[in-house]
Amino acid sequence: IEKKNQDQDLAGKRVLVTAGPTCESIDPIRYITNHSSGKMGYSIAEAAQKRGATVVLVSGPTHIEPPLNVEVIQIKSALEMYEAVLRQYENQDMVIKAAAVGDYRPALKADQKIKKSDDELVIQMVKNPDILLELGKRKKQQVLVGFAAETMNMLSYAKGKLEKKNLDLIVANNVTENGAGFGGDTNIVYLINRSGKTIKIEKSSKLEIAHQILNEAKTYL
Ligand code: CTP
Ligand code: CA
Repeated sequence: IEKKNQDQDLAGKRVLVTAGPTCESIDPIRYITNHSSGKMGYSIAEAAQKRGATVVLVSGPTHIEPPLNVEVIQIKSALEMYEAVLRQYENQDMVIKAAAVGDYRPALKADQKIKKSDDELVIQMVKNPDILLELGKRKKQQVLVGFAAETMNMLSYAKGKLEKKNLDLIVANNVTENGAGFGGDTNIVYLINRSGKTIKIEKSSKLEIAHQILNEAKTYL
């Protein structure tokens, strides 16, 4: 990693990374979120910055320190992430979407705290825009990298997302595997590129995996 950092092989490139979970408000007090820690995306932002890229990190709420010399845009909901990412998209050379974006949000955000009453509460949800799908439709010079968090049929689901969203590379992980997925400092991933080449990266630190993702993605620059 030390050697790779000194290479400056991404000098002059603009890289946008999304990281962390999104939070979808139900009322002023409650929200719906997921288990993403943000560590994978923050490691990618750190690695890209050290390799000389100008990095923008669009992040949901996390408990980690932002990497040095990276512009951080904090957002909460998927709609806020959508707006922030689209605003930056045109200027970017590479976009890496490590964020765990909520697929749905409550149809209505109550203005006041919802008081308990009946034994059952139903919250109606509506679909969020698929940010990566929209980026794929508008793709010009940008190298597009997605993630696929799966609990089964990992490789086939990931390949489906790569094609549907017009990506160059997808990082697939089985979040139920030991040493992979949410929260931990390590991950086990498969990198699948658009010609179908699949590389398994054995259990490694998220920073090491970040460098491997960049190595593969930069071939599309
Ligand atoms: N993604 C996104 N916007 C969404 C949902 C997902 O940009 N509204 C991105 C994620 O950041 C990730 C990729 O799409 O890079 C795949 O996310 P994932 O949740 O694995 O797949 P989905 O397409 O949402 O499908 P599903 O959750 O049904 O598996
Ligand atoms: Ca999803």
